[in-house]
Amino acid sequence: MKNFPGRRVAAFCLSALLAAHAIAGPAPIPLLQHKDGRYALVVDGKPFTVLGVQAHNSSNYPAALGQVWAAVRDVNANTLEIPVAWEQLEPVEGKFDFSFVDALVAQARQNKVRLVLLWFGTWKNTGPQYTPEWVKFDNQRFPRMIGKDGKGIYCLSPFGEQTLKADTRAFTALMAHLKKIDSVQRTVIMVQVENEVGTYGTVRDFSPSAEAAFRQQVPAAVLARKKPPAPGAANGTWQEVYGPYADEYFHAYAVASYIETVARSGRAVYDLPMYVNNALRDPLEPMAPWKSNFASGGPTYDVIDIYKAAAPHIDIAAPDIYSPESDKVGATLERFQRQDNALFVPEMGNAAGYARYVYQILGRGAIGVAPFGIDYADYSNYPLGSKLKDKAMAEPFGKIYAAFRPMAHHWAQWSLDGRTFGIAEGDDRKPQSILAGDWKITAKFREWQFGHANKDDLPPGTESPNGGAALAQVGDDEFIVIGQNIRLNFEHSAGKPSMYARVEEGHFDAGGKWVMERNWNGDQTDWGINLTARPTVMKIRMGTYVQ
Ligand code: DGJ
Repeated sequence: MKNFPGRRVAAFCLSALLAAHAIAGPAPIPLLQHKDGRYALVVDGKPFTVLGVQAHNSSNYPAALGQVWAAVRDVNANTLEIPVAWEQLEPVEGKFDFSFVDALVAQARQNKVRLVLLWFGTWKNTGPQYTPEWVKFDNQRFPRMIGKDGKGIYCLSPFGEQTLKADTRAFTALMAHLKKIDSVQRTVIMVQVENEVGTYGTVRDFSPSAEAAFRQQVPAAVLARKKPPAPGAANGTWQEVYGPYADEYFHAYAVASYIETVARSGRAVYDLPMYVNNALRDPLEPMAPWKSNFASGGPTYDVIDIYKAAAPHIDIAAPDIYSPESDKVGATLERFQRQDNALFVPEMGNAAGYARYVYQILGRGAIGVAPFGIDYADYSNYPLGSKLKDKAMAEPFGKIYAAFRPMAHHWAQWSLDGRTFGIAEGDDRKPQSILAGDWKITAKFREWQFGHANKDDLPPGTESPNGGAALAQVGDDEFIVIGQNIRLNFEHSAGKPSMYARVEEGHFDAGGKWVMERNWNGDQTDWGINLTARPTVMKIRMGTYVQ
């Protein structure tokens, strides 16, 4: 064979291409890393902070996506959470339609955004509205729960064997399809299994199969994890062990076991991290048995242990935050962030008052956060979220994400290493302080940049609480700070005389390197570190001296 120069070039190009491909290879599969009770979502082999948004419920069709991407861009999100509904995946039993998933994944790649898919299957906000019609209306085959009065209710029963089989099959088909289309690029980084499960109005299923299960012994895995809040037997039936809490705990176990079957089967074909989300019970109310005040059987904070025992293939029980009060937000974060449960906030109101919680949530070491309904569909879920439906709705989150995004990888690593702290202005507007190694950092709100607050002359834009800061202690005496509408003062915790060594304002570049823009001194530091409504990134180094 003659050796044409053209062929040599082509052969060279091909081998170079193959070599490049072999070096790049498929991206490693996303996973949840755990270190000393802290977590990181690892994407492309590196810790990743989900600066997310969640689309409206009905935006899961190709024609609706344009309005979603526009909002995703305005808010500078790196991740979109969006439903994939059983009804759209399997409208006819056994025939799967992946056209939406294919369009979504392709468009996410064009937009350089990762995806968290929300499996709206047997339960969406506890109801069956996202199941295909052949499930919804065939309650012989797919039974609904029976209330205590013997009457059927809206919610599908976790004891429906055919329902479980059908949901598992559809979900597994979805995961198999993701494996097929996404094993190289890993655009999809996590999957939510079902949506806000549990049941409103009835504490549990009272159908004959549920009754038979209720009379069984509490499984050893549950006994090992969940201690009865009221004194009960060390083992025995649900009633014997958990007394007044037995019905709720039993229902949580039934729902979690169902989810486990679905998740386990999906992960067996494609092992992405998976989580469940929760419509919260009041985190401040004294613990008491269920009294119609939340969805029984959902992963409320009091039954996380039961979910852990029943559903080991679910990595995270995650809170959906729609109560804006700062004390409730704080208590919820505390209850869901545990040694055995990474903190992830997959939904939060999109009203401006929630934006400050991004600092608190990421500062506490969450793997991510996502306000809900950041999407220019002509819909607002006010009063849960904002009345606004346009750029003005996206702006309070967009400016924070823009400042965070270039350092999102660093942030995830710092939080895995336990170096981060978060503050959100409280509804009481009072100062707060944190202790970071040798440094006590005090945050104040509603102060002018130069001097002290005067209650009759307060800075504009501080009418309602919107201050916050996230801090990473990157060295013994050095901090990266990002914040807004806050004054920070640093002092040595043991009282040694101290002063600023260096107070740099700047940003991280695309390669993750710190770029100083200016050094603050004089007026800019004499009254503390005053961050305005514009989220600002600072690198602050402290020093002590001998007097
Ligand atoms: C929580 C649910 O998980 C979301 O899907 C949505 O229904 C919101 N509530 C309300 O907008």
